[in-house]
Amino acid sequence: MKAVLKVDPTQQISKIDERIYGSFIEQLGRAVYEGIYQPGQATADENGLRKDVIEAVKKLNVPIVRYPGGNFVSQYKWEDGIGPKDARPKRLDLAWRTIETNQFGLHEFMNWAKKVGTQADMAVNLGTRGIMSAANLVEYCNFPKGSYWSDLRRQNGQETPFAIKTWCLGNEMDGPWEIGQKTAYEYGHLANEAAKAMRAVDDSIELVACGSSSMDNPTFGDWEKTVLDQCYDNVDYLSLHRYYGFYGDDDPNELDNYLGKNIDLDEFIKGVVAICDAVKARKRTKKTINLSLDEWNVWYHSNDQDAKTKPWQQAPHLLEDIYNFEDALLVGSLLITLLKNSDRVKIACLAQLVNVIAPIMTNDQGVWFQSIFYPYMQVSNYGKGIALTPEVEVPTYKTREFDAVPYLDSIATYDKTQNELTIFCENKHQTDSISFQTLLRDFDVENVIEATQFYGYDVKADNRDGKMKLQPLTATTEPHKVMATLQPLSWNMIRVR
Ligand code: AHR
Repeated sequence: MKAVLKVDPTQQISKIDERIYGSFIEQLGRAVYEGIYQPGQATADENGLRKDVIEAVKKLNVPIVRYPGGNFVSQYKWEDGIGPKDARPKRLDLAWRTIETNQFGLHEFMNWAKKVGTQADMAVNLGTRGIMSAANLVEYCNFPKGSYWSDLRRQNGQETPFAIKTWCLGNEMDGPWEIGQKTAYEYGHLANEAAKAMRAVDDSIELVACGSSSMDNPTFGDWEKTVLDQCYDNVDYLSLHRYYGFYGDDDPNELDNYLGKNIDLDEFIKGVVAICDAVKARKRTKKTINLSLDEWNVWYHSNDQDAKTKPWQQAPHLLEDIYNFEDALLVGSLLITLLKNSDRVKIACLAQLVNVIAPIMTNDQGVWFQSIFYPYMQVSNYGKGIALTPEVEVPTYKTREFDAVPYLDSIATYDKTQNELTIFCENKHQTDSISFQTLLRDFDVENVIEATQFYGYDVKADNRDGKMKLQPLTATTEPHKVMATLQPLSWNMIRVR
């Protein structure tokens, strides 16, 4: 099979906001405890932060990390996680029915974020709390000094403000599982009032309102419209969440269908954009609301196990999906989808980062990387600059859910500062290789500086034995052309300068 990707420097989707390569740490399961924080572990620093995890996260080059939840935030009192550790209360975490010791909180997270080289995407509790607790948190984090909350921060050891720019107004407030679930009107009104108070403290912050926690929720669509009707003028982004699972039989048709789920994400994103713009038109405003896909991933492997987990444990093994090779292929294609929608998706968080539905796993001895680590690492490190409109000629296939899935998913990004063009491409054909060409119009690039392929594994194989690796790919250039043979079921990256 042949496929041609044409790219032209004048055909740009958008400048890429690197926050689309964000991730998420929730106080859930072993994400924090035994994940990023484990006093006494061999690599832990004087504050209990695991240096092996810090090094692993740095490889992923994660620009922003959402914290502290997730469902957890809707019942969380952030004040429990500040001040002397021996005075912090042990609480029932009602979201996940575990015990939260509060030995890790705001300062510990911000200290970790600094070491990792990332910024915070801080969520406030609009489930069981409200306007003033959110405004107080902004004051605690961002106000310089001379007020109750800012001086308490200084007293707790942080003289300069944390200066957190991006804030989430609650989490999944449409979900029946959420503690403090609201109707769209109730939430939209509360989000607007909280936004006003938070901005009164610091008018430089950016705010994300909750959209739908899934496109499958019956309120999807009406929720977005009603929420934005209430808070449009005071927020900057609308969130959306999407998780995927392989629920069918292990037959080839189901694999074809699974690998086409990027089409579902594309439709979801475009649907939410349409609603945002419809509200914009009705409001006759020039302001555009962009999207924060602040939870996305594959999540289904651990469901049965989690249903059996006894409640009220500290840091139990929860949501510990072990990802296989087909999951990595889907994650690669979802990353390409983010780039294709980078004109409107400005923040996205792979949910999550460590141990909980995560690319990085830990045990007492060290860390290991899941299959999904590899495409995420490559796109976050090299998908920089401008996303270029992919003009593609490629055959498609039909599945149970999708009418036309292209066998090749591909996109190129161009980083002007390095004069570097990076091509991400995935062959979804189960048996045939693709003779792939990228035609470059008006690019002054000549040499392949790196080309890798991720392929050759059984689709159900995982990386618990640590054997999965990116392998070299033979890619050649001619004037205005890059060529490679893409193996069946392969994720590929080609960098040209
Ligand atoms: O990421 C796991 C959970 O998924 C989050 O806590 C919640 O927001 C979503 O339902």
